[in-house]
Amino acid sequence: MVDKTTFTARYGSWGIVAGASQGIGAAYAEELASYGLNLVLVARRTELLQALATKLSERYKIETRIIALDLADPNAAEQIAETTKELEIGLLVYNAAFSAIGPFPERPLADHIKELNTNTFTPLKLIYLFAEKMLARGRGGMLLMSSLSAFQGSAYISTYAATKAFNIVLAEGLWEEWRERGVDVLVCVSGAVRTPNYVASEPEQTGGLGDMTMTPDQVVEEALNALGKGPYVIPGRMNRISSFIMRHLLPRKATVKFMGRILRGMYVK
Ligand SMILES: NC(=O)c1ccc[n+]([C@@H]2O[C@H](COP(=O)([O-])OP(=O)(O)OC[C@H]3O[C@@H](n4cnc5c(N)ncnc54)[C@H](OP(=O)(O)O)[C@@H]3O)[C@@H](O)[C@H]2O)c1
Repeated sequence: MVDKTTFTARYGSWGIVAGASQGIGAAYAEELASYGLNLVLVARRTELLQALATKLSERYKIETRIIALDLADPNAAEQIAETTKELEIGLLVYNAAFSAIGPFPERPLADHIKELNTNTFTPLKLIYLFAEKMLARGRGGMLLMSSLSAFQGSAYISTYAATKAFNIVLAEGLWEEWRERGVDVLVCVSGAVRTPNYVASEPEQTGGLGDMTMTPDQVVEEALNALGKGPYVIPGRMNRISSFIMRHLLPRKATVKFMGRILRGMYVK
């Protein structure tokens, strides 16, 4: 369990949630607000951000700022760093992602590049821009969202899965570099979550695995509980078991084919 009473002492008084307007990001914002963390909420849709900021300020008596921008923009990270330079940012949660679902060449190249920008380039720059001050203070945290699809090649979401693999490997390396310097790094490797975006992607079947989807609140609770305890967390017992089998018991080729079968069933109409 997260110790809500010591959270702000551990991380500082301000946090950023990038990709906060709905789904898992909004759930991170609500949970962090309940710990008393002041929040900078980032996403594209101003109205959703404003409504969330107002709700959290009133309910939890915290300060909030909103930054409405496109995280695929090459200058997004610098804009966030510039807008927040007066604040002591102690926690960075990078939740936003773009996923171009479908047979690889049927999606325009621009979509694949947008996945790289949103899912790797901008979080890397944000981590870089906020790391120095956190390390100098000797306290802070970075939390990245990844996906079980990133543990192996994943057909029909190949670029997305590759960007999420980048996040796992980056977070693990930084965890090891910074764990004795007071800055916690965690990557949350999530299975399917019933977010507006997931539901809108209209997944059809899950390859006979049944419904293993989780709610945003469940994912956020497990992720924040794991912060400071190790480099990664897989929320959900069934996700941990299936991922263990796929990573450690099956040959990699079989895992790639199995994932392909699931994703074909979900997304190839
Ligand atoms: N849902 C799942 O099944 C699942 C499974 C595994 C991992 N994950 C990971 O969990 C994270 C959240 O997933 P989700 O399903 O909650 O995603 P989502 O519904 O698409 O929400 C993502 C949030 O990020 C914002 N966002 C997306 N693209 C943005 C951009 N270019 N610029 C600024 N803000 C942007 C969205 O707000 P705006 O639209 O207002 O900008 C929204 O607030 C992602 O990193 C995803 O890879 C999700």
